[in-house]
Amino acid sequence: MRKKVAVLTGAGISAESGLLTFRGEGGLCEKYDFTVVATPAGWEKDKKLVLDFYNMRRQEVMKAMPNAAHTAIAELEKYHDVCVLTQNIDDLHERAGSKNILHIHGEIMKSRSTGTGKLYLVTSNIEAGDVCENGYQLRPHVVWFGEEILFHEEAKNVVQEADAILVIGTSLNVYPFNTFLKKAQHKAVKIYINKDKPDKIPYGYQFLSGNSSELVPMICRKLSDDLL
Ligand code: OAD
Repeated sequence: MRKKVAVLTGAGISAESGLLTFRGEGGLCEKYDFTVVATPAGWEKDKKLVLDFYNMRRQEVMKAMPNAAHTAIAELEKYHDVCVLTQNIDDLHERAGSKNILHIHGEIMKSRSTGTGKLYLVTSNIEAGDVCENGYQLRPHVVWFGEEILFHEEAKNVVQEADAILVIGTSLNVYPFNTFLKKAQHKAVKIYINKDKPDKIPYGYQFLSGNSSELVPMICRKLSDDLL
């Protein structure tokens, strides 16, 4: 019987596709000052700097390909009602074939009018001076520090109603995953896959340490067979 599966993904799921994670050795947080490149204040101060940072990241995303973990999650839709909640701004879940995705930190492949909020697809770079049809500057459709996450209520409900929750490739350092996880039902199957073991494993979750490209296909196979 089809069940509800919530899949929460963070930067670690895209690491084996060649995209840098935020935390840990060599991560984006070591290379960039996020108060400068990912805040409304940084944007007001230097739009070109912020746009260049995201243009570079968009180019990296366009070169990357989904890996076995993204593909396994997409295939799970054949057996269950899957909703992917992702902190990632890349489009690798879409390209792997997942249909039901909430990007709670936005999408790098979209721009947004700073005046009307209308969204547009981006095919190359966004430059200072690029405006919407009403003359407002375009910005990347991503959530910056200090801004509200997207789909808050919807995402919380998905976790609360899930029969199984898979958490993949996140250090659980940032909101909302670190609080959403606790909304899970007691009876739900709860699995947390990550390369590094966090200081604290959320209550009730089975932790599996390793690469998501190996562990996620294995767990998805179990979910499609007998685990639920
Ligand atoms: P992090 O970069 O904080 O954590 C990524 C996690 O992935 C780490 O704990 C790694 O151990 C793990 N990891 C690395 N490679 C892996 C692999 N091959 N398989 C499995 N796990 C692997 O990323 P997130 O928790 O997603 O927010 O946090 C990212 C958020 O922090 C971003 O969305 C951004 C930033 O603040 C905003 O920009 C608002």
